[in-house]
Amino acid sequence: MNAIVATDRNWGIGKNNDLLVHLPGDLKYYKKKTLGKCVIFGQRTLESLPGSKPLPKRNHIVLSDDPTYTVEPREGFACDVVHSKEEVLELAARYEAAAEAAGEDPSEAVFICGGASIYELFFDDCDAFYVTRIDEVFDADRFFPNLEEKGFIVTWESDEQTDEATGIRYTFRKYERAGV
Ligand SMILES: NC(=O)c1ccc[n+]([C@@H]2O[C@H](COP(=O)([O-])OP(=O)(O)OC[C@H]3O[C@@H](n4cnc5c(N)ncnc54)[C@H](OP(=O)(O)O)[C@@H]3O)[C@@H](O)[C@H]2O)c1
Repeated sequence: MNAIVATDRNWGIGKNNDLLVHLPGDLKYYKKKTLGKCVIFGQRTLESLPGSKPLPKRNHIVLSDDPTYTVEPREGFACDVVHSKEEVLELAARYEAAAEAAGEDPSEAVFICGGASIYELFFDDCDAFYVTRIDEVFDADRFFPNLEEKGFIVTWESDEQTDEATGIRYTFRKYERAGV
């Protein structure tokens, strides 16, 4: 499985249970990577999505410790609320197997989508990290692990993008373990 995240120069990812900045170009990229796939969220991030609803056209797995917490799935797609890492891994393996059976790349079937506690929990289970690297420093209260300090390298990077409305510059990067 992979993780997908947008970080600033200090690996900041969020503040007050919201993103640091909303970049339409990043949203488009995120949609392209995750549409039709399985996305995994912590309860706080799921609640931060528009209308506190799952994203359209994606299967969701949501982690919560609250046994009464429920989420209404979007039409045609699943939304399973689970309470342990083991349950997530079991469901994720089923999505990967289904992708393989359909002739798709199983390593692109499941995305860890945050927030901070979920990225941390599944860090060692991820093969690749799709990072939108925003060339700014924001006031953040949630952070992603510093991949460069952990020995990961950039194996692909897009051309530099510029957000029309704000002039904010960013690139899309793929990080993998050195030596892969
Ligand atoms: N920049 C990005 O790409 C990006 C992406 C996603 C999120 N974010 C940001 O990240 C921030 C939220 O991150 P966060 O760490 O505060 O929250 P989170 O990871 O989204 O959710 C935390 C919640 O997940 C549940 N949980 C976590 N570990 C669990 C476990 N082992 N077993 C059962 N349940 C578990 C708990 O829910 P209960 O309280 O219900 O028990 C916990 O309160 C926001 O600012 C958001 O905007 C940024």
